[in-house]
Amino acid sequence: MTAKGESPVLVLAIETSCDETSAAVLRATDAGTRTFGPCPPSLTSAPEVLSNIVLSQDEIHAPYGGVVPELASRQHIKTITAVVGEALERAGVGLGAVDLYAVTRGPGLIGSLLVGLSFAKGLAYYHVKPLVGVDHLEAHLEACFLENPGIAYPALGLLVSGGHTALYAMEEPLTYRLLGRTRDDAAGEALDKIAKFLGLGYPGGPVIERLGKGGDPRAFPFAVPRTKDRSLDFSFSGLKTAALKHIRESGLAKDDPRLADFLASFEEIVARALVDHARAAAEQVQPRSLVLCGGVARNSRLRTRFQGYAREAGLDAYVPSPKLCTDNAAMVGALAIKRYAAGPSEGPDLDLDAYPRA
Ligand code: KG4
Ligand code: ZN
Repeated sequence: MTAKGESPVLVLAIETSCDETSAAVLRATDAGTRTFGPCPPSLTSAPEVLSNIVLSQDEIHAPYGGVVPELASRQHIKTITAVVGEALERAGVGLGAVDLYAVTRGPGLIGSLLVGLSFAKGLAYYHVKPLVGVDHLEAHLEACFLENPGIAYPALGLLVSGGHTALYAMEEPLTYRLLGRTRDDAAGEALDKIAKFLGLGYPGGPVIERLGKGGDPRAFPFAVPRTKDRSLDFSFSGLKTAALKHIRESGLAKDDPRLADFLASFEEIVARALVDHARAAAEQVQPRSLVLCGGVARNSRLRTRFQGYAREAGLDAYVPSPKLCTDNAAMVGALAIKRYAAGPSEGPDLDLDAYPRA
């Protein structure tokens, strides 16, 4: 086994927290490997992603308009061997060359998490190599640093996905202080539910973006959702209910000529709520940089609004490339490399357990 603190070069990472089966191979770069040990991980350069395979289960869950946990875990079991094999093949390496295994422990669907975790444990055990379990939400934030290792701290992170919407203060590498999170629906979940109600397909975010293109974002004046106590917590269920009520009362349907305006307006208000919260949080924590991540960060309206605010505030803003926004194993590997370099304290590898909630 590689001793703690030694320099793992090749990392095989696995992500199965929800409905994407993903495996990636990363190589810590020369500069990165030299700094393994007690050095601050902020000084490591970003690892090189040799492969990052993502197999989506969208087709399986689409008829239900959302992820069916039982089907998700069964599908991970069917596909994980092939996905890991493909990641190794694309990277041009065999399992014997892997120095470190990385896997998502949570939060997520427990059955799905256990598939990836058990698979990674089996590999680490058989090959007598260390295994690092990482947090899915921290991995999303890390996706940004993978492409931009020089992001200045303190950074403010806005994570927007199908399961989570949260703001974090990142004072230094590997610290994630929660500032606020959604009290009900996540932003992605609200988009998915509106799309489902209108029968537009799953996942809803990308469909809403496509069908709302060219629509007037001011046509339907939704109110920006705010929590009563004006904290940094989010709440999207009131907005979702208002939109559903409007659809019911106005008889808006899939083929309605007002559909593009409606979807653009809904998307706009979600983006505004997210950016307003980021602004309020930035006033509190005075960050040097802003980071946007998670599946909904693929949305071009949100990216534009977020970057517009950053320009206005004179802050550097970073958003991962689209493939690194949605669930993927490269972000898991990137975080595991940093954690291992900082001195792992995960306890005996095979005791790692999955957790469903943050
Ligand atoms: O991060 P992710 O892959 O999974 C979770 O950890 O939840 O995010 C999935 C979410 C879904 O709600 C999906 O509708 C949303 O990301 N999403 C988008 C776009 N692409 C994916 N939302 C808005 N616009 C997009 N282009
Ligand atoms: Zn995710």
